[in-house]
Amino acid sequence: MLSVCSFMVLAALVYISNGEEDYLPPYIKTCDFNDKNLENCVRKQMMESLGPFTRGIPEFDVPSLDPINLGEINIDGNGLKLSFTDASMHGISNSELTNLKVVLGKVDEVFSLSFKANLSLTAKYNADGRILILPIQGNGDAVVSAEGCEVTIDSKLTHYKNEKGEHLKLVTPNYKYTIERTVFHLDNLFNGNKQLSDATHQFANENWKQLMDELAPPAIKTIVKTAVKAINKFFAHVTIQQIIVGYNRP
Ligand SMILES: *[C@@H]1O[C@H](CO)[C@@H](O)[C@H](O)[C@H]1NC(C)=O
Repeated sequence: MLSVCSFMVLAALVYISNGEEDYLPPYIKTCDFNDKNLENCVRKQMMESLGPFTRGIPEFDVPSLDPINLGEINIDGNGLKLSFTDASMHGISNSELTNLKVVLGKVDEVFSLSFKANLSLTAKYNADGRILILPIQGNGDAVVSAEGCEVTIDSKLTHYKNEKGEHLKLVTPNYKYTIERTVFHLDNLFNGNKQLSDATHQFANENWKQLMDELAPPAIKTIVKTAVKAINKFFAHVTIQQIIVGYNRP
């Protein structure tokens, strides 16, 4: 029993020291700075690591991005009061990398990525008022499925040094997004009156753009903020040279 315990303590110590020194998640492969196709290498690595990365890196205290907690979203205007509470966004871990631009080793370094996913927001909703012309009233569980949601994050890269070495950091990220289609499922509209509920669903789904003009911006903003924070947390645990072997900036 004692020896098992000692072994576990020892294993934990070895593990921690590896974690502190040069641990990299197994799916993160390095690229060579002097490779003529450095950008291709980074793209390939990003494609392969996007999924696992979004599920979190406990060793680095990087949280899972699936789901992302959105808290509360309130829409109040144009005769509609619609609030979502306990909202979370699911589906980021099934993202597809659709574009990547990386400029490294220059004075102005750039990191820009686009990813596309079918996202679904789950929440408790409370609705009162009208969508354009149709009344809406109810509260209960909501699922909002945003299909083909593509988010582009454009960011500058800066460097900073600590005792481990030199690290990258995304700063002043800009973002934009497009959504192909949105489907709303609101349980218990009009106290469960099916006829009224069906009519409002049909109308909401046909006019999803107007609703998403209000709902998407706060949701996407939180997604981008959370993603950038996670990426920077990852960068804080690995030096540039650890991921881009031979990196130097003239
Ligand atoms: C989203 O769902 C559609 C239809 O179910 C599917 O064809 C498409 O490949 C999915 N897109 C992504 C990025 O997963």
